Amino acid sequence: MNLRQEEEELRRLEAKYCSYGDTVHYASSPKFFKAAEGSFLYDRQSRPYLDLQMWYSAVNFGYRNKEISQSLKEQIEILPQLACQYLHKEKVLLAARLARECERAFGREGRVQFNVGGSQAVEDSMKLVRNATGKSLFMAFMGGYHGRTLGASEITSSYRYRRRYGHFSNRAHFVPFPYCFRCPYGKKLESCEYYCVQQFEKLFETEYQSFWDSKAQEPEYVAFYVEAVQGTGGYVVPPPEYFPRLSKILEDRKILMVDDEIQMGFFRTGKFWAIEHFGVKPNIVVFGKAMTNGLNPISGVWAEERLISPEKFPPGSTHSTFSSNPLGTTAALATLEWIRHQNYEKTVAEKGAYFLTRLEELKSRHRTIGDVSGLGLALRIEVTQPDRYTPNKALVDRIFEAGLEGGIPTSRGPMGLVLDVGGYYKNVFTLAPSLEISREEIDLAIESLDYLFKKFGTEVQ
Ligand SMILES: Cc1ncc(COP(=O)(O)O)c(C=O)c1O
Repeated sequence: MNLRQEEEELRRLEAKYCSYGDTVHYASSPKFFKAAEGSFLYDRQSRPYLDLQMWYSAVNFGYRNKEISQSLKEQIEILPQLACQYLHKEKVLLAARLARECERAFGREGRVQFNVGGSQAVEDSMKLVRNATGKSLFMAFMGGYHGRTLGASEITSSYRYRRRYGHFSNRAHFVPFPYCFRCPYGKKLESCEYYCVQQFEKLFETEYQSFWDSKAQEPEYVAFYVEAVQGTGGYVVPPPEYFPRLSKILEDRKILMVDDEIQMGFFRTGKFWAIEHFGVKPNIVVFGKAMTNGLNPISGVWAEERLISPEKFPPGSTHSTFSSNPLGTTAALATLEWIRHQNYEKTVAEKGAYFLTRLEELKSRHRTIGDVSGLGLALRIEVTQPDRYTPNKALVDRIFEAGLEGGIPTSRGPMGLVLDVGGYYKNVFTLAPSLEISREEIDLAIESLDYLFKKFGTEVQ
């Protein structure tokens, strides 16, 4: 069987036996890849594709990062499997490292509970809040994404993810995110004086706004789920004073802040935790994805001691067969060790600034780019009609497809581009390149994007 026949057979089997319930069939002809290295994926014909999304920011430290992969190979020979009711060294050391990272960043002592995927860790965080407060109503942001399990979908704003399944608990009260390019209140940052925060504060003015019992001095909604930079929402970076102002209100109103770092944690934005850019102290932090550089998945939740002490969260409060699997904890420890030997606070800021400057140049050449911005190496290109404002999903879709078709003529030969699409109008390229990306690769990304915007920019309106 030649390559083409094999692919036809695989597609036939996929069409018959794979569920279409995941996101593969968002594409009309999903792509096969067979190899990966550094910033590149390779298709079945070994053609290269520069990856600007790195498995939705799970592979922050490059595909097949040798040091991290090596740790797994060694662990496979020693203790690859162990029921999670027993202890192993890597689990304990990993929990200690993460808890100390939170203590350093937020000045609070706490503990870590591991799980397998991001959504499951979000579920654990919901248990922690419900258990500690005895209440089950949450707030979250419009445009926020916290996963697709039943509980996590209730705090994820898109109704699309809930529509078929009814309500599992209570959907969150969704608050507008400070998406200043498209301010939900039609304001301008220069003159708004954080109108959005003022509006939020008003919810607690009297009992009649329905959020606060002024006699009991108690909120009805007990936790606010935040992403410091919205991920799926389109890599939206809030203005600098937003979180400090919000956090003050949450503290005054006894509402816990749950910081979802699943996509932005582990130096995507140039800090260990993205929320560190804003100097606020969450009560709970949820993490996953890049913690193992996309190898053996593992996720987790850190909470301050009063919420997760053994008395509050006793044995059996949560459990999953694979929650602290030795391969995952080993890969995560190796990832933290890798991070310790880099200087990501400096290099991610530098590379991000360079990438952003080059994106600004790209914007100046193409009227279909309405906005570019970013924090560290979490970058965005908001694609619009030539008025630089009206969302242009059709152009995004065309460029996205052309990237995966490959064969873009570049100074390094024909190449493909792996992009990710996000944003409220699905008109934003959310760029999450490897934190190890080189200047030459950034230039290559710009060269390819320039070609694609030139080719399709006037054609697709
Ligand atoms: C911010 C955020 N939270 C939660 C999740 C869910 O994580 P998982 O897909 O591992 O369940 C994601 C995944 O994209 C995410 O970006």
